[in-house]
Amino acid sequence: MDCRLTEEQELLRRTVREFAETEIRPHVRDWDQDQHFPTELMPKLAALGLLGIQFPEQYGGAGMTAVDYCICIEELARVDPGVALSVAAHNGLCASHIALFGSEAQKQAYLVPLARGEKIGAWGLTESTSGSDAAGMRTTAARAGACWVINGSKTFTTHGRVGDVMVVMAVTNRAAGAKGISAFVVERGTPGFSPGKKEDKLGMRASDTSEVLFENCRIPADQLIGEEGQGFVNTMQVLDAGRIGIAALAVGLAQGAYEAALNYARERKAFGRTITSFQAIQFKLADAATKIEAARLLTYRAAYLKQQGQRTTLESSMAKLYASEIAVRVADDCVQIHGGYGFVKDYPAEKYFRDVKLTTIGEGTSEIQRLVIARQLLSR
Ligand code: CAA
Repeated sequence: MDCRLTEEQELLRRTVREFAETEIRPHVRDWDQDQHFPTELMPKLAALGLLGIQFPEQYGGAGMTAVDYCICIEELARVDPGVALSVAAHNGLCASHIALFGSEAQKQAYLVPLARGEKIGAWGLTESTSGSDAAGMRTTAARAGACWVINGSKTFTTHGRVGDVMVVMAVTNRAAGAKGISAFVVERGTPGFSPGKKEDKLGMRASDTSEVLFENCRIPADQLIGEEGQGFVNTMQVLDAGRIGIAALAVGLAQGAYEAALNYARERKAFGRTITSFQAIQFKLADAATKIEAARLLTYRAAYLKQQGQRTTLESSMAKLYASEIAVRVADDCVQIHGGYGFVKDYPAEKYFRDVKLTTIGEGTSEIQRLVIARQLLSR
């Protein structure tokens, strides 16, 4: 078993890190404060292939592996978890759903511009009354001749206001429960499809999150993705991969928080010494570094199995659960090591502390990950 990254992967890490340090780091505080979605960054992300990381070159993608994907998300999250979240939602939810289950025509029409970064993708599952119980959604799509008519709304949609292309799940046969949900692709500008309230969030503020409304939104029948009634199962398959991305995001965020704490501790003096000489600080740093490494290995293992073509429901949820939970603790210790300076915006600690909470909620809460893990273990 060889756990080392290849030379190409080390180069990829250095390249994305340098990009994040140069193009993102100087703006982190302003984007967070203004809740600004950095549209201006999108062409630069696209030029590096970061808006089509894992998609084949024939569909405009960079043709990278699932482990490469984790490296990219990690390095973005180390500097700005909000940007990493946008990149993960675009790649891992919207574009991925079309890549996995779309027809050839849908891939040409939607995946290619998404992977090239010419269009921004959104993905709508969650509703105001159905989060963890995703199959309890109320949005409907009814067949009307050669069209589908969508009615309802989605909540907490990443890129709900800035997205050009959205994959949306809707009930097509209420009596069939989870097997009566279908997926559709809808383009911005379609009559009856409009963004709703923009959320004012605790963290991840550079990533656009809003409500999306469907009022008699009529789309051609060929905008159904995959088989009718398979939308929920396909969603779970998309999330199996998406959760590896959120695990990588949590690892990168924890790495950024750990480095911020280490750098601060090396400078800060108390009782006549730098605080790194105190065991109270050393143990926090040792625990953080160990947890981050364990989370990274779980994440890469899930990604590695995915790129071997294996189903990773269990491994993805384990990685997402562990990485997000340790990231919360690392971000907490980062604030603690900074003391009072961890509580003010002049230092990066408080932002990591705010951003990190999303990782235990988005793409399935920690409680849902435990439910998925337990179901997988008990079904063997
Ligand atoms: N792969 C393949 N099939 C799967 C599957 C998987 N990973 N998971 C479930 N299925 C299948 C099941 O086998 C079942 O089919 P059968 O009846 O034929 O066996 C069918 O799908 C229904 O599954 P369940 O019975 O398990 O469904 P459930 O209602 O009990 O829900 C759940 C399961 C795990 C709780 C699921 O609802 C879930 O993951 N909830 C969390 C949703 C979530 O992560 N939301 C966040 C999305 S992010 C977002 O929306 C905003 C954004 O922009 C980022």
